[in-house]
Amino acid sequence: MIIAIDGPAGAGKSTVSKLLAKRLGFVYLDTGAMYRALAWVFAKNGQESPSGEETLRAMLAQMELRFAIENERLEISCGGQTLSEELRSPEISEAASKISRLPAVREFLVDRQRRLALQGTGIVTEGRDTATVVFPNAELKVFLTADIRTRARRRLAEYLEKGASMSLEQTERLIAERDEADSRRDHSPLRPAQNSVFLDTSGLAIEEVVEKLAEMVEKLGSGKKRSEA
Ligand code: DC
Repeated sequence: MIIAIDGPAGAGKSTVSKLLAKRLGFVYLDTGAMYRALAWVFAKNGQESPSGEETLRAMLAQMELRFAIENERLEISCGGQTLSEELRSPEISEAASKISRLPAVREFLVDRQRRLALQGTGIVTEGRDTATVVFPNAELKVFLTADIRTRARRRLAEYLEKGASMSLEQTERLIAERDEADSRRDHSPLRPAQNSVFLDTSGLAIEEVVEKLAEMVEKLGSGKKRSEA
């Protein structure tokens, strides 16, 4: 069974997806980490912005990057080195966002994501195109939303925890800009997939959101082995 969770920045996608996967005993497929890993490899090779479609495809084909599901988790490694915390820096966030616009990169990673999904009986995945492009046949597609104030408050709490100094207004402005850019971009723009269930998380605690989704999954019947990606 595949559950794909989408929605705008600050709607709670990552937290909800991780908790839901844990609760159901499913694999959490963090597609964002895969974009980050590619950005990390490009940066390591001194090629932050690879140019030329052909060169890029050749580079991707030879890349030593390995994605695998181990112990119900996505493990990413490069030449034997496990990649985890190094993917979380602001530089890598920025670089991942840039390379995620390249069609060759998207094709490469979408193919890997589909192959990974074939290995698990249950997958919870989250990300811009997971419900629309990667897994349009997912058994459950959820579009998480929340009003912009709520989303800004959640993002601000994360920033403050990391020691950044920001105001609520600044955060709200950043989120509004990101919404605008995300919904206008050419490749996999932010939009709800067909047959998505909308869930407004504004007045809800994370646990309540997870509970609601777990109920939906139980209704669908869990543990079905997928035969196609
Ligand atoms: O969710 P994240 O911040 O870890 O994602 C890193 C970058 O990758 C972000 O700029 C969005 C992009 N991304 C994407 O284009 N498609 C996905 N399915 C997941 C992430």
